[in-house]
Amino acid sequence: MAESSSDPRRRRWWRSTTTRVLAGVASVAATATVLVTAPAPGADAAASTLGAAAAQTGRYFGTAIAGSRLSNSAYTTIAAREFNMVTAENEMKPDATEPNQNQFNFSAGDQIYNWAVSRGMKVRGHTLAWHAQQPGWMQNMGGSALRSAMINHIQKVMAHYQGKLAHWDVVNEAFNEDGSRRQSNLQGTGNDWIEVAFRTARAADPSTKLCYNDYNIDNWNYGKTQGVYRMVQDFKARGVPIDCVGLQAHFTGGSSVPSSFQQTISSFASLGVDVALTEVDVTNSNTSQYQALTQACMNVARCVGITVWGVRDSDSWRANESPLLFDGNGNKKAAYNSVLNALNAGGPTTTPTTTPTGPTTSTTPTTPTTPGGGSCTATLSAGQSWGDRYNLNVSVSGSSTWTVTMNVPSPARISATWNINASWPSSQVLIAKPNGSGNNWGVTIMTNGNRNWPSVSCSAS
Ligand code: XIL
Repeated sequence: MAESSSDPRRRRWWRSTTTRVLAGVASVAATATVLVTAPAPGADAAASTLGAAAAQTGRYFGTAIAGSRLSNSAYTTIAAREFNMVTAENEMKPDATEPNQNQFNFSAGDQIYNWAVSRGMKVRGHTLAWHAQQPGWMQNMGGSALRSAMINHIQKVMAHYQGKLAHWDVVNEAFNEDGSRRQSNLQGTGNDWIEVAFRTARAADPSTKLCYNDYNIDNWNYGKTQGVYRMVQDFKARGVPIDCVGLQAHFTGGSSVPSSFQQTISSFASLGVDVALTEVDVTNSNTSQYQALTQACMNVARCVGITVWGVRDSDSWRANESPLLFDGNGNKKAAYNSVLNALNAGGPTTTPTTTPTGPTTSTTPTTPTTPGGGSCTATLSAGQSWGDRYNLNVSVSGSSTWTVTMNVPSPARISATWNINASWPSSQVLIAKPNGSGNNWGVTIMTNGNRNWPSVSCSAS
């Protein structure tokens, strides 16, 4: 293989150790009104953070978070400002969550989960079944005992996070470089262990998207990529539940973004799964490679988001390669700008593929909860739209101390927000307050088959 991403040696060191207008304008007297208007061309202004820029295209931009660093304010300031998706770097892995058999410990995972959601961020679960970072008791297990233990682990961990996570990496790194299955104690329980893991996961939490995650599956013309592709194709054909494929996209250790990267993303997407770049880092933060990998994702509608594997270079598991978007002092690197610009530029496939149909039921504005404190108006307009999701832009006028409540019709769910402080009384209800970014904000809504717009109300205080 000419491309160095095919080089299996690069991982050896760690692997070995481990619209329409809604009924015109609806308004109420006094302090709360709701307007719905036709899309405003060019309504999406360039965003100034990675998360906001990605969200304007219906995507997320995430980072790995290490629980041990949450007491570092330089770290948390950048993380909270720039990202709207979080992966626990180690805290939701089997050795962390089930240190003794059938004794679970979620304290470290919950710390990261709570930190993220209290800042309006979503969380990816990582990971349930993996040959590495197994607790000691599991490493020594095999056969039917291990099969049962894996099932129990998936059931218990997913029950704890039931309804809370955007995605779960159900199985991580199960293939060899040539596209065959990696030998491991899990593989030793039978070739069906991966589909058993996915079926168990679907039953445990039907609300979360179930992903297969791996490295060195970036080059379309590579055995491992083809092996994973054939597995996903087979799962889709036989009805084994799988919703997404994660390309870790570690372009470190001598590897680089292959020229076929976008083809790989679009080929997986064509199987009917979402694709995400889940653990991105690039040696010395090569700007053109960061630009290329971001653009490749932007060019494929079902590439739903990008996660970098850490905040600052000094936080990276490969710190000696300085592979991230912020330097050790927290300064934005050149690669940061190349990524932000690519996100803000959008991509060819961000052209709407489906026009939002708008609500079939009318929305009814609520009366203000704090009468006498001024008035505000929330105006909805259509943003970009895809087959499975659409953006709504929200513009608030009147009082600058507004609170907008958005009720999303089930089973649709909000998957991203930008330019607000978000809180979530339930998965169907968003409370939005200003975060200093002004009065224009937005949401991405996964339709789950329901394209009716949410209802909104605005109250001023
Ligand atoms: C890494 C973490 O970043 C390190 O802190 C840890 O020591 C080893 O694991 N593929 C994955 C991630 O799926 O979970 C790994 O994370 C990096 C490779």
